[in-house]
Amino acid sequence: MGLKGFNLFTSSRTKQTCTYKCGNACFGECANESNNEYFGDITRRSALKAGAVTVLAVGGASALAACSSDSDSGNAETTGSASSSAKKDQAKSLPGMQFTPVEANTEKEVKIPEGYEQKVLIAWGDPVIEGAPEFDVDNQTPEAAEKQFGFNNDFAGLLDHPEDSNRMVYVCSHEYSTEPNMFKGYDPENPTENQFKIGLAAHGHTILEVSKVEGSGELKREFGKLNRRITGTTPFKVTGPAAGSDLLKTAADPEGNTVLGTLNNCSGGITPWGTMLSGEENFDQYFGNANQLSDEDAKKKLKRFGIKGDASERKWERFDDRFDVSKTPNEPNRFGWLVEIDPMDPTSTPIKHTAVGRFKHEAGNIHITSDGTVVCYSGDDERNDYLYKFVSTRKFKEGDKENNLKILDEGTLYVAKFEGNSPKDEIDGSGQLPKDGAFDGKGTWVKLLTSKEDGSAESHVDGMKPDEVAVWTRLAADKVEATKMDRPEDVEVSPKTGLVYVALTNNKYRGAVEEGKNYPGVEEVAPIKENKNGLVLEMDDDHAGENFTWNLLLVCGDPKEAYTYFGGFDKEKVSPISCPDNLAFDSHGNLWISTDGNALKSNDGLYACAVEPGDHRGELKCFLTVPKGAETCGPIVTDERVMVNVQHPGEGDDASADKPAIHWPDGGNAVPRPAVVVVWPKKGKVGVEA
Ligand code: FEO
Ligand code: CA
Ligand code: CA
Ligand code: CA
Repeated sequence: MGLKGFNLFTSSRTKQTCTYKCGNACFGECANESNNEYFGDITRRSALKAGAVTVLAVGGASALAACSSDSDSGNAETTGSASSSAKKDQAKSLPGMQFTPVEANTEKEVKIPEGYEQKVLIAWGDPVIEGAPEFDVDNQTPEAAEKQFGFNNDFAGLLDHPEDSNRMVYVCSHEYSTEPNMFKGYDPENPTENQFKIGLAAHGHTILEVSKVEGSGELKREFGKLNRRITGTTPFKVTGPAAGSDLLKTAADPEGNTVLGTLNNCSGGITPWGTMLSGEENFDQYFGNANQLSDEDAKKKLKRFGIKGDASERKWERFDDRFDVSKTPNEPNRFGWLVEIDPMDPTSTPIKHTAVGRFKHEAGNIHITSDGTVVCYSGDDERNDYLYKFVSTRKFKEGDKENNLKILDEGTLYVAKFEGNSPKDEIDGSGQLPKDGAFDGKGTWVKLLTSKEDGSAESHVDGMKPDEVAVWTRLAADKVEATKMDRPEDVEVSPKTGLVYVALTNNKYRGAVEEGKNYPGVEEVAPIKENKNGLVLEMDDDHAGENFTWNLLLVCGDPKEAYTYFGGFDKEKVSPISCPDNLAFDSHGNLWISTDGNALKSNDGLYACAVEPGDHRGELKCFLTVPKGAETCGPIVTDERVMVNVQHPGEGDDASADKPAIHWPDGGNAVPRPAVVVVWPKKGKVGVEA
């Protein structure tokens, strides 16, 4: 086997997951070797310069106030004992969170609270397009895969059906293929062309009509005219400042404005104009032979995006020259974008928006300000990479699809710089809260690129042209000294409060010491040394502006551990949580968090967390867990139902299609299949005591 994934975490992430999901992004050297100063240094320097208390640049300190109520007690002292105010009235959870939490476990199935039911909506290989064959692991063809549900469903969205009130439209991404778990007898050294084509077809997206079941939250898959598969070969239109750039031109596309396919689509978002945004994340792993390039500068730039070495793991470069960097050096520049798909028009050409920058996009999540300005947040999910936002100049217009599909082409791309407000020596990596009672501070958004209506663009980064900033966004952000973060994943804006939440999944290298390595030290926004369990960040952002304040809502982990922090809530009454990844809000304003790679030796899950200031802030309850080896993706939370995408169930270092570790969801001796699960309450609404 060619598995080289070196799992430095005590995480449940297996070598197989590391290899096929993210191309071993955590293995070996760090992609970000910039000498970008650490946040701790910035804090010290600004403090020296200012010589006085810094003034918070934006109003709305409610989030900070909520966090500072334990002002003179560090986490270590509050372990297992809540402050007196937090103890009050915690008996009954807030609406949306009234369920009995699921205990940590290592089961081989989905576990849900009492009083709920669950069903699989659709799984890998099920027909999406009418006429496609039923799933048969022993009889797979590229033609069938193009019409069947793809592999490793990640982002999930649910839209109203435009014509039929008894139906809805489910959309999702298919992040990656794990060939050893897809094909019996798979030889990683000698994949076949058929396996290559099926793998490519198993990527992309599914758009699926679903019907409602009267009297319950259940949904059933249907054939319908909106059903569509988007794959690794579907044509995409490139828009924004990199469209037509020399950096995107290839022999197959001399104009540099049409890309075949989308890859490693991780999380995403539904826009207020009814489209799906989807992030091309670990796209580097599909490209082989970067070592054979003779241009050292080109190699350096590719390396900053993780593209290096000889053969790729999947060896797709054997079957298509576009995956061979030595033959098609610009092809990697055509991936790593935020893509937009109109699920309501099955004939529409999906878009790659280059004004939003190129990096390992986890997702794209929208907030609209009162004047119609659209703000799109996006994390670059790699250790020590950055958080970005795009602020549109074109305004959102209700019902004007033509206008709205251009919004992400016109505006300014920013990257975040965080500052803490506590002295550096109070941030010691242990999780002990600083004397002001919170990991918190302020920050600024630094301009990188402005894209204009007439197609022109302006770079705000010295020495880089606009198309270079768009294509090599990480390098541009290095130059402006953005803040290195602990893997920014999903971002979600509370529809109730406008506060912005960011999942920072983990960073084992934070503050780590290893000879010859230059790992970033701990800092207030990343205060846990060798952070294995992740953080959830809350930002009060001046959405269209350039300033924000921030605080850490959660320092994840086993609540019995002193370093953890749950918004000030009684740690004896919360579920353990590790590696926050995807975020969603319920109708009550609670934040739902799905996890990826639980480092606490139990299965991943979906959690609800109270975020409102008050007695319940920080209460966290596990709503469901996914089967062993799986990651919890999606999620969708409404009053009627909760939906999760169960990704890579049963994935493990000794697992394969020949030797499955588990048999979910089909049972018997079946291979496990990534699938979509719908959960609904037997009575009443989700999370509300019936
Ligand atoms: Fe595909 Fe960042 O998880
Ligand atoms: Ca502080
Ligand atoms: Ca993810
Ligand atoms: Ca989300």
